[in-house]
Amino acid sequence: MCGIVGYIGHRRALPLLLNGLRRLEYRGYDSAGIAVPHGGGLFIAKRAGTVAHLAAMLEHLNLPATMGIGHTRWATHGEPIDRNAHPHTDATGRIAIVHNGIIENHAILKAKLLEDGYGFVSDTDTEVLAVFIGALYQQYGDLELAVRTALSEVEGTFGLVVLSADHPDLLIAARRGSPIVIGVGDGEYIVASDATAIVEYTRSVFYLSDDEMAVITRAGCQTKTIEDIPTSAQLLELEFDLERIEKGGFPHFMLKEIYEQPTTFRDACRGRLLLQEGNVKLGGLRSVEEQLRQARRLIFTACGTSWHAALVGEYWIEQLARLPVEVEYASEFRYRNPVLYPDDIVIAISQSGETADTLAAVREAKLRGATVLGIVNVVGSSIARETDAGVYIHAGPEIGVASTKAFTSQLAVLMLLALYLGRMRHLSPTDAREIAQELARIPEKLQYVLDTTAELTREIAHLYAHAQNFLYLGRGVNFPIALEGALKMKEISYIHAEGYPAAEMKHGPIALIDENMPVVVIVPRDELYEKVLSNMEEIRARRGKIIAIVTEGDVAAARLATHVIPIPETLPLLTPILSVVPLQLLAYYTAVERGCNVDMPRNLAKSVTVE
Ligand code: F6R
Repeated sequence: MCGIVGYIGHRRALPLLLNGLRRLEYRGYDSAGIAVPHGGGLFIAKRAGTVAHLAAMLEHLNLPATMGIGHTRWATHGEPIDRNAHPHTDATGRIAIVHNGIIENHAILKAKLLEDGYGFVSDTDTEVLAVFIGALYQQYGDLELAVRTALSEVEGTFGLVVLSADHPDLLIAARRGSPIVIGVGDGEYIVASDATAIVEYTRSVFYLSDDEMAVITRAGCQTKTIEDIPTSAQLLELEFDLERIEKGGFPHFMLKEIYEQPTTFRDACRGRLLLQEGNVKLGGLRSVEEQLRQARRLIFTACGTSWHAALVGEYWIEQLARLPVEVEYASEFRYRNPVLYPDDIVIAISQSGETADTLAAVREAKLRGATVLGIVNVVGSSIARETDAGVYIHAGPEIGVASTKAFTSQLAVLMLLALYLGRMRHLSPTDAREIAQELARIPEKLQYVLDTTAELTREIAHLYAHAQNFLYLGRGVNFPIALEGALKMKEISYIHAEGYPAAEMKHGPIALIDENMPVVVIVPRDELYEKVLSNMEEIRARRGKIIAIVTEGDVAAARLATHVIPIPETLPLLTPILSVVPLQLLAYYTAVERGCNVDMPRNLAKSVTVE
């Protein structure tokens, strides 16, 4: 949520900052700004709107500065207007900061600063911090000390970079709760809120820890705690390349990522499936193997799409390992005074690894003594670092705000986990082998689904793009897919959509059904198939329009449906991995048909790092 970029080195900073902001724009896109030293002071440009708006304003400029900071915003405090955009400055206009996170005690700090005669031009908490740092700088004459002192008095979260016209060879970055990654090049450093802004310049990076800061000059970078205790940075190599963060010929990141799923699913399983033995190897869980063997209950905690993945995981693990599983919204878990036993395992699922509620749930569970694991995409992210052990999903950067490939990769890892836990308990090698072998065939089936359903879903989207509402129904392991299909539809097309277990329909939602209501029914041939057919009869009797996701060759379901989207046969338990893909495509084509900005849906941003 919000993107930060900072640069110090030998290149012209402005084009690099704008390029970094374009890469980070998926993190927030309601306003953008930059600051660079210029003519003994600071040149600052910021405006509401996208990075393209800002770039158009700066196009003709050829500023010589070789350092600077930039920001792309998703508004929390203060509406998205020019004066609330970052960077924010102190009272002298000579110190500028970009900031992600929330300064929770901003009102108290602001009141004190107002008493001391300082004024404010924005409605943001960030400006309060900038003015506070400036006031301390006036007092101490030492920028680093001013930043450290300010940060030790701040409550809340921050990832930030500070720049001063008095120090054209110094950037100060700091973090508490909001990620900061620093790319190390040859005589240059790039600071960013995520590695997508860095990878085209260098692959060598390190992450700041909470309450750590970096004091960066062209000659080197020192890291320390905000209490001034030196720390040592651990350099890592970024694993993805530039291609993964470009559209590669697709009109939108979301579509590209939908099409990446055969590859990303394979990557999630790579080296982990032991087909001959009918087992699974999860290196990241080796250190907690004994706890997993002894566990009497698993509690998944997550938000949004990751929460839907957890619901599928619940079915799978209960079925294959006969281990009780609970699934909790992270935002509820953290505040509900959860009852945890020493042999409970809490597993946080998060694509970004930075979602504030999920991270808070991890901390709550750890405080209560549970073993806490992570299923995470972003390597080195906060949840990956704060959990006791975990499994990466290896989906590569997900730029589209609507999560797609991360979801199917989470499913891949959850099925691996179900097999792993199952084999520790009662699941026979023969049964596990059958599932593992089918799992290995899923990538080609995903490709088949993409090849055969894209055109079909585009045509259906064209017919229903004017709809006011959509209903999504599924049963058993496909109920969470109904929820996920509905979420995808509402977040990018702004059509109201609800997901329900199919049998729940008659307990209320059936009242909504008439000839204007498209109802997406997921009805693969499984043990609940006949029951879902009955639900379809009920919809048909009320003249609802049925869009049915069916197993290829199923004539009975096809007869009841208005439109049929076939998916290939697979084991009933694995159908969610295939059935979700046409729903992603349906949401995508509907949004395109309605002229929505698919990769930047209104009011949303990738990675919700605020409560
Ligand atoms: C929906 C979507 C969100 C995220 C949610 C959790 O398409 O992307 O619902 O799934 O914000 O994010 P992570 O998985 O990063 O914790």
